Amino acid sequence: MSTFPDASGAGTVADVVADAPNLDFAGTTPYEDYVQADVLTHLQHLRSDDPGEMVFLVTTQVMELWFTVIVHEWETASHALRRDDIPVAMDALKRSVRELEALNHSWRPLAHLTPAQFNSYRGALGEGSGFQSAMYRRMEFLLGEKSASMLVPHRGAPRVHAELEKALQEPSLYDEVLGLLARRGLPVPASVLGRDLAQRYEPSPEVEAVWAGIYADSDQNAELVRLGEALSDVAELVWRWRNDHLVATRRAMGAKTGTGGSAGVAWLEKRAQKNVFPELWTARSHV
Ligand code: HEM
Repeated sequence: MSTFPDASGAGTVADVVADAPNLDFAGTTPYEDYVQADVLTHLQHLRSDDPGEMVFLVTTQVMELWFTVIVHEWETASHALRRDDIPVAMDALKRSVRELEALNHSWRPLAHLTPAQFNSYRGALGEGSGFQSAMYRRMEFLLGEKSASMLVPHRGAPRVHAELEKALQEPSLYDEVLGLLARRGLPVPASVLGRDLAQRYEPSPEVEAVWAGIYADSDQNAELVRLGEALSDVAELVWRWRNDHLVATRRAMGAKTGTGGSAGVAWLEKRAQKNVFPELWTARSHV
């Protein structure tokens, strides 16, 4: 016996309807038990009375969730590459490309803030800044952009710090790709394979030559070209996220200093210029 709204929507009637959803649960719904929607939708602790703050906070939270999914995909891809399982790695990388597209689309609600609109709640953010996002740093570490100094803001949060420390020491997604290329007999230098994993990946002319060789004979190297293109898609979309963030920031606050204490747009401009997986870009000039 289920209870469901009657046709007028005015009340409820008890009836048995074979194809209607179940309405009767002893405790919380199975949906809630899985999704924890009640937790998610009560994490919006606003700091100002400005009606525009809600979308700023939720967009930031949505992006944090996408960062979490993307880290999961890149870790899946890294582990698969270590086992030479290219199909599983490719599936995870391709999912991450669609997720990066969704992440980038989520700039829309914040892309055209005026300085006055942003000022309405900016003061309430205090020193809070996306610069302090630990999940974003895990993304960067997986891309090879390692930096021990990025752990410093998280000294007071043991779990976050431990996760970041582990990610700093582990091979990046790109390290795993280069390991696979070496196992395929390609001349990736020992100095690259044995590099200090906690340091930022530095481009290597020999690795550039390896990618140029792969792309030059795409019939022979079809699987590796597909891998290179999936990585290039990732790199391009990361570059787009950084540039969308830069432009949104320029519109919202001009050349003011950031809440995180940086020079703001001037600092972000330098960060947005970088390309991840550098040799995948420079090799193209030699094909
Ligand atoms: C229009 C709104 C936004 C403005 C004006 C803005 C501004 C800034 C500024 C000025 C910085 C430099 C660090 C600082 O001094 O604070 C920064 C860094 C950062 N922001 Fe935003 N931000 C906005 C939205 C977001 C959103 C929604 C996210 C999503 C999580 C985000 C994530 C980041 C990250 C990850 C960094 C560090 C970038 C890096 O290390 O290269 N920002 N932001």
